[in-house]
Amino acid sequence: MNILGINAYHGNASAAILCDGKLIAAVEEERFNRVKYAAGFPAAAIRYCLQAAGITLKDVHHVAVPRNPYARLGTKLFYALRMPSFARERMKVLAKFTGIREALAAAFEMDKAKVPATFHRVEHHIAHLASAFFCSPFEEAALLSADGLGDFASSMWGAGSERRMNIHGSIAFPHSLGLYYSAVTQYLGFLKFGDEYKVMGLAAYGEPEFLPEFRDLIHSKGAGFRLGLEYFTHHRSGPEMTWADADKTPVLGKMYSDAMARKFGPVRDPLAPIEQRHKNLACSLQARLEEVYLGMLRRLHEETGMKSVCLAGGVAFNCVANGKIPANTGFENVFVHPAAGDAGLAVGAAQYIWHQLLGNPREFVMEHAYWGPEFSREEIRAALQASRFSENGFVVGELPEADLLRRTASIIADGKILGWFQGRAEWGPRALGNRSIVADPRRPEMKEILNRRIKHREIFRPFAPSILAEKTGEWFEQSHPSPFMAMAYSVKREMRDKIPAPTHVDGTGRLQTVTSTANLRYWRLIRAFEEQTGVPVVLNTSFNDNEPIVCKPQEAIDCFRRTQMDALVLGDFLITRETANDQQRESDHING
Ligand SMILES: [Fe+2]
Repeated sequence: MNILGINAYHGNASAAILCDGKLIAAVEEERFNRVKYAAGFPAAAIRYCLQAAGITLKDVHHVAVPRNPYARLGTKLFYALRMPSFARERMKVLAKFTGIREALAAAFEMDKAKVPATFHRVEHHIAHLASAFFCSPFEEAALLSADGLGDFASSMWGAGSERRMNIHGSIAFPHSLGLYYSAVTQYLGFLKFGDEYKVMGLAAYGEPEFLPEFRDLIHSKGAGFRLGLEYFTHHRSGPEMTWADADKTPVLGKMYSDAMARKFGPVRDPLAPIEQRHKNLACSLQARLEEVYLGMLRRLHEETGMKSVCLAGGVAFNCVANGKIPANTGFENVFVHPAAGDAGLAVGAAQYIWHQLLGNPREFVMEHAYWGPEFSREEIRAALQASRFSENGFVVGELPEADLLRRTASIIADGKILGWFQGRAEWGPRALGNRSIVADPRRPEMKEILNRRIKHREIFRPFAPSILAEKTGEWFEQSHPSPFMAMAYSVKREMRDKIPAPTHVDGTGRLQTVTSTANLRYWRLIRAFEEQTGVPVVLNTSFNDNEPIVCKPQEAIDCFRRTQMDALVLGDFLITRETANDQQRESDHING
């Protein structure tokens, strides 16, 4: 039986395909249309999923759509009456949703009456919870989803046991942990969709000076929380999310009120310098998020008595808060879906149909995140030939694996920057060793070099370490697996000087624990680096430059050329540019 999950007309449009309950493919539309967080209808992602499963649309038995317009009708009506413009906007979006069968038929040039699948609507947060629980290794677990807003709710929690989830509670609009974080992110001058990551990184540079005041912005209440609504505007004007139009990056309207400025001082202009006050505000924002989030998880642990918890929703990307769960909530095991944001809804909605609706037992565990497109040796070779590397002073070689890893590890150990492209693309926003830029973690200057030459991002944002999973406890204060970079742990004090580049200013690292079963070649690369340096860690950042992570070999080649990477590995091929490289090192020396 084939079940297609589609997250459409919403940020992070995506598709996933389950065949007899097993995930075969999952991918975000942004990887194809190259628009970050793209909304719209994910036709290319769906096409890829069907192709990976070796089926056509006629072979799809069920289509699962993570949206239920009938959820919380009373609350919706109440706000629709108060905010007619918001209601009109929602109606437009809903009209698109009711046309998903038509959009699907049109994308595949079929008559919609001939699309045989049964269509199902799965509520937004139920799909988030399903993506976390049904991918986890746990037979039973507590469940929490928290984000900005979906189907008029911002959070939902419950418990899962084998093939069923039971919902214990939820929090409806306008109260939202995600919108709380987004509003203060905007107030601090970070206006783009997804900028919450930046503020989380900035928080480590501050002190929680304003924590008492932040308790007025969000109050704990019962099993959940309430916003101090005077500091926000979304409950009056509606959350202005412009993502209904095809292929556009979502844009959020202003969400903080003038009361925010009266309480904390002037709003920061995006171009103004970042002062210590801004850092302290970011730190206080994060500290209050942790109080509320960890408090909810503590109560969930008391309520369920379970050892394990599964998390999804955009707030589950807060790796700093996640890293504190084992020590602060009673939960011993944590599973975070790698696409915890709305892309993951495609997987969750499909799994909900398979397990909860159809009652099928669980056999699948998401042990890795490599569910996207892959390219054959011939395709890589063709991309290399088209790029005419050899005619432009580059050296291209195809190497046996042992030689490739030894050479590549020594390139990294020499302080060079490596583009590393292997196998299937990652599902979710983190590069996990198949579409990664890899560098030497031992060099304190590496962060600044990467930022200047490749990533062009704010200097206060940390880079992440990938570590051999079996060495985690030797280098970090915790050794709980973090395969999808969803947890930040403290680097052991005595190890911080050994891996300064991916150690954040507060001594933490948002680590990826790499096992030989999840990604053998990447594990072997880190092993080879360890053999040469004694350090079982590499710095890993996503293979891109202010764009979605590269998907195809040609995009990797373009990014390699556009930026100033020193070497590129595509499958078994190694591309180096010794001359340009030497010049760059000299330039680094001069500029540094
Ligand atoms: Fe969501």
